[in-house]
Amino acid sequence: MSSVNTFENVKAVILSAHKSTTSRDKVGFYNSWAENYDQDVAVLDYKAPGLAANTISSHFSSDRAAAVVLDVACGTGLVAKQMQTHGFRQFVGIDGSEAMLRLARESGLYQDLRQSLLGEGLLPVQWDSFDVVVIVGALSVGNVPVKVLRDLCKAAKPGGHVCMTTRSNHDNLEYKAALEREMKQMEVDELWRCVEVTEVEEWERAVSAEEDGYITGVIYIYRKL
Ligand SMILES: C[S@@+](CC[C@H](N)C(=O)[O-])C[C@H]1O[C@@H](n2cnc3c(N)ncnc32)[C@H](O)[C@@H]1O
Repeated sequence: MSSVNTFENVKAVILSAHKSTTSRDKVGFYNSWAENYDQDVAVLDYKAPGLAANTISSHFSSDRAAAVVLDVACGTGLVAKQMQTHGFRQFVGIDGSEAMLRLARESGLYQDLRQSLLGEGLLPVQWDSFDVVVIVGALSVGNVPVKVLRDLCKAAKPGGHVCMTTRSNHDNLEYKAALEREMKQMEVDELWRCVEVTEVEEWERAVSAEEDGYITGVIYIYRKL
């Protein structure tokens, strides 16, 4: 068993990821990070999977055990792990990184896992088929492009929930503005309606030279029309 990384080491790992400017590069970075990912994000006090699961749970009133959840950019499976504590049992995961998917497979939480580079081609799922679509920690600059939002909505059943998160720190502000413009446009296009937007002060520990303490983040939950 490897020893736990220090905060300084984890910071260096995350900052090295900033060199990956395309989605393809970023997925390569996640392949190399997969083995240490769970331990390292715990050092960062990464709370997004638990916060997203709480938000979904607080708005979901149907039978959880029967609900089918699409976990997009599922990584090692932290979101499914948290949602399971709220009674959700059926998960399909998608990620671009084979190494992250291997760990998700080992978690035993997913009925199905599919490898796909999001932003290239369509999401490899049937439209109108998921009770919940969730994407955590992946809607940010250099990761999953904003245009994928329309596919997330298409994947949900009418009446289904779509839960998304993003960071509000300085290097992601332009991306976040584009994300929110698209969310609003999709509301104007009558594809979904906004259920709740929650700003979180202590999202995760800051790693850049310009910031210290914690960065802020946001959880969005929409309902497909
Ligand atoms: C920060 S991790 C989040 C994983 C998980 N949702 C969590 O909260 O722990 C980001 C994940 O997104 C995946 N990812 C990033 N950009 C991607 C893309 N364009 N296509 C597919 N997967 C992508 C990475 O492989 C990685 O597993």
